[in-house]
Amino acid sequence: MNAPMPGAAQTTHGPGAGTPPSPKRRIAVLTSGGDAPGMNPAIRAVVRTGLARGVEVFGVRHGYSGLIAGDFRCLSAREVGGIIDRGGTMLGTSRCPPFLTEEGQREAVRQLASREISGLIVVGGNGSQHGSLALADHGVAVVGIASTIDNDLGGSEVTLGATTALDVALEAISRLRVTAAAHGRVFLVEVMGRACGYLALMAGIAGGAEAIVIPEAEQSPEDVALAIQDAYRRGKSHAIVVVAEGARHNADALARHFTEHAERLNFELRVTKLGHVQRGGTPGAFDRLSATLLGAEAVERLCAGEHGILLGLAGGRVTSSPLREAVATRKPLEAQWLHLAHVLSR
Ligand code: ADP
Ligand code: F6P
Repeated sequence: MNAPMPGAAQTTHGPGAGTPPSPKRRIAVLTSGGDAPGMNPAIRAVVRTGLARGVEVFGVRHGYSGLIAGDFRCLSAREVGGIIDRGGTMLGTSRCPPFLTEEGQREAVRQLASREISGLIVVGGNGSQHGSLALADHGVAVVGIASTIDNDLGGSEVTLGATTALDVALEAISRLRVTAAAHGRVFLVEVMGRACGYLALMAGIAGGAEAIVIPEAEQSPEDVALAIQDAYRRGKSHAIVVVAEGARHNADALARHFTEHAERLNFELRVTKLGHVQRGGTPGAFDRLSATLLGAEAVERLCAGEHGILLGLAGGRVTSSPLREAVATRKPLEAQWLHLAHVLSR
């Protein structure tokens, strides 16, 4: 499975003349884990680049579940039409505990080999790329594309879906600020990120939050309460607190504390959890263009015999990192943003 993609064009004369044409090269693409705006543009770019390179492209439905079940479908250029502006993934995705087992991984390898598929592209986040590495360790030629709204994957400055999710969170924060100002209230706005504070930090800074609570910089509920009281003391008429769902003191914990001490704290509280709203919606320009670039590049790498790598983005350019390195590190938040969040909330 590790052999580079057979690349030579079919001979038309000499010793090879008259031999049957070599089977068309075949690759597969799947989307796995949390869906992210950008997955569909990536699928589209993989299929159309593959077809342009004379490669048959199979879509695997429902992530690793479909890989194990052998749910493959050869995709045409037309079948990926009209999806560049659609969120989610036309292939479907899954969280697949059986793929965590050796047996599940071996079945996945068998499904690929039985179809003579010589390369696989996995579009997904942290967990999915651990899955890519497991397949690579079983001899599969895999290229990963970093895709999760959490932006918590090493090897890529920003992952597919993160910027669109950030815009969705910001649109919500802007709307909440209107009603918070009308009533002079405090709004706790919880955003996604599983264990990473990237969405909360960036949405908090861009949304002008009075406080930002993230797992990378824990604050006690009382610390947050004092920051709110200080904001009112400095003349603010309302306050927005952006909370990462993975923070130790998330929105529920903060709300319990503020309610318990409501008389002393003396501010009116409301809570909004954005949840899966951040995953939906049409991918923004950056995610569509990045996905197109990454999908096309993934096919080119496989055709060049390169695999066991994760493709991501840095400085507007495609980056390539060894899968083993990329999944070994949880990407830290940049200190400059943590500092700015503190200074600008004053
Ligand atoms: P995401 O890719 O969005 O982080 P998950 O963490 O749920 O989403 O991972 C998606 C799927 O990847 C899991 O359901 C599982 O099938 C597979 N996976 C996750 N971690 C591993 C691992 N360490 N080894 C093999 N497969 C894994
Ligand atoms: O991994 C992306 C993500 O949206 C996380 O931010 C969130 O915690 C998780 O997926 C939710 O998982 P599910 O979609 O399975 O409920």
